[in-house]
Amino acid sequence: MKGANNMAVTIQWFPGHMAKAIRQFEENVSLVDIVFEVIDARIPLTSQNPEVARITGEKPHLFILTKKDLADREATQRWLAYFKDHGQPAIAVDAKDHFNINDVLSVINPIMSPKLAREEQKGMKKRPIRAVSVGVPNVGKSTVLNRLVNRRAAQVGNRPGVTKGQQWLKAGKKLELLDTPGILWPKFASQEIANKLALTGAIKDSVFASDDIALFGLKHFRARHRDQLMARYRLNDDDFALSDVDLLLLITKKLGMRDDYERASNRIIQDIRNNKLGGFTLDNLEELQPNVTRND
Ligand code: G4P
Repeated sequence: MKGANNMAVTIQWFPGHMAKAIRQFEENVSLVDIVFEVIDARIPLTSQNPEVARITGEKPHLFILTKKDLADREATQRWLAYFKDHGQPAIAVDAKDHFNINDVLSVINPIMSPKLAREEQKGMKKRPIRAVSVGVPNVGKSTVLNRLVNRRAAQVGNRPGVTKGQQWLKAGKKLELLDTPGILWPKFASQEIANKLALTGAIKDSVFASDDIALFGLKHFRARHRDQLMARYRLNDDDFALSDVDLLLLITKKLGMRDDYERASNRIIQDIRNNKLGGFTLDNLEELQPNVTRND
């Protein structure tokens, strides 16, 4: 099977893009009251970019965990409890469904109202909370923005300091959002991180070897959701004595794909992403290292 080196080589182009994206994000942060960092509920740690916390500094910072419908429900509850314990505001949402501005306002209003009240006491005009969102590719930034904003009535015109082409969008009466979510690429500190990003679809499929990612997925499901794996691919207990590679070859046969394990790998990846094997969360709190959130 193809090696991990593929990915290490292919991601060389990230630093230049990253530097530009960081500069842009720094400018945007200076214009807002609060930053919404959109992260994936299946990888709440891996989909963070450490630069966001550094750039955001003392400014309030809300984690919006998208794709909770695709994640392991209990794991999401544990992550939310963890963030709460660390004083880090966070909400988990299915951005495609049952998600609206009140989910966000109920968390950010209490955080922001002292600042806005102080401004009013000083005689400044009552104004909405201003926010910008940021996140790794494909995490759901546009979906979140579109749910929060009523596009027809959205634009509020140019403001000084906003990059040409950027606008503020109204999200109800109490919130304004910069129209373009910032894209910050994740840090590929290890192959494990790259595998998690690939399996959840944050990295384009063309940059990884599908069999490596399918094997990574199989390993996770075999360890944590064995029943779903058995049911989906009609496996029996004895099949779990096989190595991961042999299990992939067996599934390839069971899918009627003879020895085309590449095609079977792509099918497995799609099955996992489309929740055909149930909700899953790849980042586990037990594996957490110190210094993972800004408040640690
Ligand atoms: P981005 O701006 O961060 O790049 O992400 P975007 O909003 O484009 O979302 C990427 C994909 O993730 C989209 O699917 C979107 O529908 C899906 N998505 C976003 N949030 C959620 C969520 O909370 N739950 C689920 N299940 N999916 C979510 P797509 O396949 O690229 O497009 P489409 O098929 O939805 O049109």
